[in-house]
Amino acid sequence: MRRITIPRPDDWHVHLRDGATLAAVAPFTARRFGRAIVMPNLRPPITTTDAARAYRDRILAALPAGSGFEPLMTLYLTESTTPAEIARAKASGIVHGVKLYPAGATTHSDAGVADVRRTDATLERMAELGMPLLVHGETPDPSVDPFDREARFLDEVLAPLAERFASLRIVVEHITTRHAVDFIRSSRDGIAATITPQHLLHNRGALFAGGLRPHYYCLPVLKREEDRRALVDAATGGEPRFFLGTDSAPHERATKEAACGCAGMFTAHAAIELYAEVFDAAGRLDRLAGFASRFGADFYGLAPHRETLTLVEAPWTVPESYPFDDGRLVPYRAGAAVRWRIDAENGE
Ligand code: DOR
Ligand code: ZN
Repeated sequence: MRRITIPRPDDWHVHLRDGATLAAVAPFTARRFGRAIVMPNLRPPITTTDAARAYRDRILAALPAGSGFEPLMTLYLTESTTPAEIARAKASGIVHGVKLYPAGATTHSDAGVADVRRTDATLERMAELGMPLLVHGETPDPSVDPFDREARFLDEVLAPLAERFASLRIVVEHITTRHAVDFIRSSRDGIAATITPQHLLHNRGALFAGGLRPHYYCLPVLKREEDRRALVDAATGGEPRFFLGTDSAPHERATKEAACGCAGMFTAHAAIELYAEVFDAAGRLDRLAGFASRFGADFYGLAPHRETLTLVEAPWTVPESYPFDDGRLVPYRAGAAVRWRIDAENGE
């Protein structure tokens, strides 16, 4: 049986939700990852350090006893976020990034930023204090084709922003295209990107395979096969600017299987195992540790974990659904096999 041991990985982009749904999903992430950058797009959004601290306490309370998992909190950037709030966030030691949602681009982004220039003073303070800006990189302009929204945002909004704030650290979250890979590779120091498992495993054909497949719908939407290949090349290439971020985003079954279904794929139940599949298929399992356990920590100025995680090649079948508050959560690959699993020695 093949096995691979890596330093315990971290998830640099995850949605844990709140309340009963938080309790339903957080253990999956905590089982695999030592830390995770937790997205702030709750209702209402996490816009202050005080709210982030309270949310962090709720996450810790939802973890299984003895879990060493550390949630790394983020603030939701609005046009009213003040430079003083950034200073408070930095001083707290628990806030590790500030998330820019272009208003209207995705789930719970309506409180986001309509005109990024109105946040200039706040971005300036972030650059001074070394607080990273985490970006949902899509233009919300409905006249732009959904498959072009990432490229348009990178070229028209992010490139000038990165020039205006030359020392601002930026993570372009969940990149989906060859264009984005090229953009990151050719950008200045201090700019990196996360990549999800679904964008490494699938192209947009998955959305239409034999009928409309709502459980493959996320934002940014899956792209072309050439884009997927460029992402695999970036993730498995040993390049420190690209690191793991699942964007695992749970939604109750009825809200996905609907006339107007929510965007988001739940992958936390098998996240590191799915990345292992991708790296194995590329013949690059030896590079999983960099992508999953080192490059993200380096970017955020944190030490990698000393503890390890061992994966074994031993297929298992994903349940059809998991409990999710009063409803059900349909996980990625429901009812089908995942090739890798966490070794029993890691306590499963
Ligand atoms: O598919 C997505 N789901 N993309 C996002 O940007 C947000 C996320 C969510 O919160 O459900
Ligand atoms: Zn996300």
